[in-house]
Amino acid sequence: MVYSGEGDAPVLNSLALPTQSPDDWEKDLGALRLQRSRLIVSVYGGTPAEFARVAERMAPFADAIEVNLGCPNKVPGEQTIMESIGQSPSISGEVMRLVRAACGKPLIAKLSPNSDYLAVAEACLAAGADALGCGNTLGPGLAIDITTRKPILAGTTGGISGPALKPINLRMTYEAYSRFQCPIIAYGGIATWQDAVEYTLAGACVLGIGTAFLGKGTRESAELTRALWEGVVAYLDGLPFPDLVGAAHRLPAPDLTHA
Ligand SMILES: Cc1cc2nc3c(=O)[nH]c(=O)nc-3n(C[C@H](O)[C@H](O)[C@H](O)COP(=O)(O)O)c2cc1C
Repeated sequence: MVYSGEGDAPVLNSLALPTQSPDDWEKDLGALRLQRSRLIVSVYGGTPAEFARVAERMAPFADAIEVNLGCPNKVPGEQTIMESIGQSPSISGEVMRLVRAACGKPLIAKLSPNSDYLAVAEACLAAGADALGCGNTLGPGLAIDITTRKPILAGTTGGISGPALKPINLRMTYEAYSRFQCPIIAYGGIATWQDAVEYTLAGACVLGIGTAFLGKGTRESAELTRALWEGVVAYLDGLPFPDLVGAAHRLPAPDLTHA
């Protein structure tokens, strides 16, 4: 279930990772032929060994495997398997070690903002991850219907995404870039070309869009993506492109001539 308030209000989801069986995914991914695109397949499991089994089966269809270490959806008061994995550097490292052994595709460790994410990232990179995903939803958060006086989401609480998440995942991206020398995929409230540029300046070289597509059909989503891309291209016009990724870290030396 997904809850979205008016305008720029936070978006909450408690989908709790619904999915189909690996058999069905093999059928669907086998039938999917992407043209001029790369396919990143997201995997998760209840144990490190299950992560590895799923990654091994999905690897033939994927250009890269994203290991989902950070879904915060849960019953209040309980800790989910995902949460206990994604918040533990040692268990996340073990997940990554087994996934690395099981498949030869580039591996992305998708981090949770609800964790000591730099420690988790360090463990994952040491265990063979090639890139970092910054990051999953925040929370869990709560929304209450003032008419029924009950929590709105079927799962009571849910992960926060969209505009409210952007400053947090932007900070995660910025910190990860300053600590590690690896590609960073960023997600969190990206809806405009300005958001895209901000994340790139923080250190992202690939961007993910989720919430901005909610409620939109294929054509509207494609238009949003095109507008975003065209805005970035216009911004880049005349700029030295290679300098954009992480440029916010390379502040010019202070001008001391007037000191
Ligand atoms: C409805 C919904 C479903 C999601 N499902 C997944 C998922 O299955 N696996 C995952 O790694 N992240 C999942 N996410 C998190 C997004 O991939 C993304 O990391 C996060 O929402 C921040 O980006 P956004 O603000 O553009 O949505 C989901 C987010 C939403 C809103």
